[in-house]
Amino acid sequence: MKDVLDNARKLMKGYCRVCPVCDGRACAGEVPGMGGLGTASAFKANLEALGARRFNMRLVHEVKEPDTATTLLGKTLSMPVLAAPIGGVSFNMGGKVSEEEYIHSIVHGCLAKGTLGCTGDGVPDFIHQSGFDAIRAAGGLGIPFVKPWEDQELFDKLEKAQATGADIIGMDIDAAGLVTLRKMGRPVSPKSVAELKKIRAAVSGKFILKGVMTVEDALLAAEAGVDAIVVSNHGGRVLDFAPGAAEVLPKIASAVKGKMAILADGGVRSGGDVLKLLALGADAVMIGRPFSMAAVGGLKEGVELYLDKIMVELTQCMVLTGTESVAAVDPGILL
Ligand SMILES: Cc1cc2nc3c(=O)[nH]c(=O)nc-3n(C[C@H](O)[C@H](O)[C@H](O)COP(=O)(O)O)c2cc1C
Repeated sequence: MKDVLDNARKLMKGYCRVCPVCDGRACAGEVPGMGGLGTASAFKANLEALGARRFNMRLVHEVKEPDTATTLLGKTLSMPVLAAPIGGVSFNMGGKVSEEEYIHSIVHGCLAKGTLGCTGDGVPDFIHQSGFDAIRAAGGLGIPFVKPWEDQELFDKLEKAQATGADIIGMDIDAAGLVTLRKMGRPVSPKSVAELKKIRAAVSGKFILKGVMTVEDALLAAEAGVDAIVVSNHGGRVLDFAPGAAEVLPKIASAVKGKMAILADGGVRSGGDVLKLLALGADAVMIGRPFSMAAVGGLKEGVELYLDKIMVELTQCMVLTGTESVAAVDPGILL
């Protein structure tokens, strides 16, 4: 992993410093790039909210080989960790690897380790096209995310996403604030419940809504019939001073747990962070930037090595908190 990160540091020069802790400080305001928007307060809040939580260490029990496997939206995963949708390798990461190589490494690296990679969307079109190609080549085993385009563009893209063979499709509704896309003549926008219902109906498989940060939006998503939400502030890239995902997750989980699957992302940097989000109410967790560094620095092998590292850390934290299975994490493992 050290070699992978050293290589990423060289290849991402000028776009990502591959810091010892990826916390949004060095790259504040670098959007495009790998940073958080504005002061990067929302990026940092993700790490601060996770960092503020502590584990209760418990060693008098019989959990020796905890079970990290789980089922999410009908798919069995080796652990509840997915690669978050990230695109735009040329303008966010420096373009030393191609969009195709990058997203192929994410989707196929995750698959090799028994989990799923998500793909992103944006302008130019080769961002989503590369993602769709990688998922098609994986027999549909990946999750394509599309942006909340206005009008027919959204429905055309949902159809193309389904043609990859994927039976889980996502939309990052929080991209609605990207005024740059509107300026490029490709407007995105928030959606009403009625619009969400139409979008939901256009997807024959499962549908994930990403970018839910309030109980109100979570309840409206449930009303629209989505199968899952991602509690996410988009890695702090859309609204400066949004709270951290771990801050709002417990309230959202208590409002909609059982009605839909709950995913969360933002600032997850270790297996311990994964376990914290599960204890706060998530069914599964997404990780963003660290996967980008692993993929740029080591392609598919880098992604696999990164997942191995997360798996070891998660298992270790489960033993040390007496957590038998990721499917039933006791909130009491946190102080
Ligand atoms: C460079 C970059 C590009 C991104 N592109 C997308 C995208 O196309 N679609 C999407 O849903 N989220 C996108 N995201 C947000 C991630 O999916 C995820 O929510 C975020 O990175 C999680 O935070 P973390 O990087 O701290 O783990 C992007 C994030 C970054 C850093």
